[in-house]
Amino acid sequence: MRISSKNLDATPKTDLLALFLPDSGKPQLPEGVKLPKDVLAEFEGKFRSVRLVDPSGGSAKRIALIGLGSLKSVDPDKLRRAAALAVQRARGAKLENLAIWVEDRVAKSVGEEVAGQAIAEGARMAAYSLTKFKGKQENGDKDGQTLKTITISGSSAAFRRGVKTGDALGEANCFTRELQDAPGNKMRPRDLVSEARKLARRSQRITASALTEAQMQKLGMGSLLSVSRGSEEPAFLIHLVYKPKTKAKKKIAFVGKGLTFDAGGISIKPSAKMDEMKYDMSGGAAVLGVFHALAALDVPYEVHGFVPTSENLPDGKANKPGDVVTASNGKTIEVLNTDAEGRLILADALSYASKKVKPDVMVDLATLTGSIVVALGHELTGLFSKSDSLAANLLAAGEASAEACWRMPILDVHLKHMKGRIGDLRNINSGQGAGSSGAAAFLNEFVGEGIDWAHLDIAGAAWGAEQRDYQGGPWGTGVGVRLLLEYLRNHAG
Ligand code: BES
Ligand code: ZN
Ligand code: ZN
Repeated sequence: MRISSKNLDATPKTDLLALFLPDSGKPQLPEGVKLPKDVLAEFEGKFRSVRLVDPSGGSAKRIALIGLGSLKSVDPDKLRRAAALAVQRARGAKLENLAIWVEDRVAKSVGEEVAGQAIAEGARMAAYSLTKFKGKQENGDKDGQTLKTITISGSSAAFRRGVKTGDALGEANCFTRELQDAPGNKMRPRDLVSEARKLARRSQRITASALTEAQMQKLGMGSLLSVSRGSEEPAFLIHLVYKPKTKAKKKIAFVGKGLTFDAGGISIKPSAKMDEMKYDMSGGAAVLGVFHALAALDVPYEVHGFVPTSENLPDGKANKPGDVVTASNGKTIEVLNTDAEGRLILADALSYASKKVKPDVMVDLATLTGSIVVALGHELTGLFSKSDSLAANLLAAGEASAEACWRMPILDVHLKHMKGRIGDLRNINSGQGAGSSGAAAFLNEFVGEGIDWAHLDIAGAAWGAEQRDYQGGPWGTGVGVRLLLEYLRNHAG
């Protein structure tokens, strides 16, 4: 499916023309749009209301009026959702092309570039579907996609630039959702590695490599390797690098938890909903998604992506509660609960990333704790950082991308509760509560000196979020991709 933008002064030849209409003011439509009498007057323009109309003439076969609500209330997410509704209608009717018309006054009210970006993002994300795991018979019409082109009206260079960006971000989000939604037997650590290598083939500015278990052994990554010991699948530590065209202004590292399946290990999880633990690689999938978009965008920073990837299963060789392991920075950890494995693999990844690239800024994303779901639900990402400026920048990026974050504390007492009895640290606290903060305090122990660091706990936001037209429901959300790209593009300077 192709998304483009073009000046639609006259009614385009299209299967469906979607007109985005605020609830007041005289609509300004492309020339030649012929609507039956009174249709416009009757349409109230309520946000998300859709009315299909047969035009009384002109070159659009069908017209959809899509309400935006009051002009003052229009924001990027309303535009994403309106675009998604248009795509849903076009897909539902098995149409091949769609044109979206948005008035100048609407685009100007949120900013032309932002408007173009939001509409393209919403359209691209709404076109996501996962059919590759259906058998031949049920998958008759391939990916169920008939839609071939979406043309978005817009004349200014800024608007068109926005459409290009939005398309790249939407595609990256869909790429991440595909990785997330794949089942554990089809998305193993080795499969994440091959996805990373494929990303490097899409751009000369991106390279990919992966440390093997033997290499990690030499580097002393006893914490990460203790998790994969219980699995037949070998672990890897993926490293992606993006180099900008001109001298990099900063080095930024993203680290994503890549547990392709988390059964809990010997501290095994209950079987209800255990299937959802295929999503325990969502942080890693988001990091890969960032590089998917970087291939198409100009970002002035050197960006590093690290994805420690493994399975966490019960086995004769698996971690046992009480075992002590040594991470590559020399710290020892008592593994009191083998299900708190994310922090064990992140410990070695964070300390490796710190030493290997000495980034100015490091952000990790992880489906780390059930407690963050209790605290914040599925609509928010928990943001932990000792740096007020980095936290403020990520909060702002969250607002702009509609991937909102909520700041949570890391106090000295949270670290105190993670101190070990026979080792330096323990991987769970001993029942003092604040499980997500304890996990964040633990991770902080593996971040190098002088690095501005933030931890994003996406255990709630990664899947199962509210339906938003372009994403939501029981599926993966791809959270983190648009957030981090918004951060890189507009808030990292
Ligand atoms: N992957 C889970 C966290 C998780 C739970 C994500 C539910 C999404 C939904 C993580 O590895 C884990 O099991 N954490 C434990 C930690 C506990 C043992 C201290 C948890 O949150 O229950
Ligand atoms: Zn776990
Ligand atoms: Zn986990």
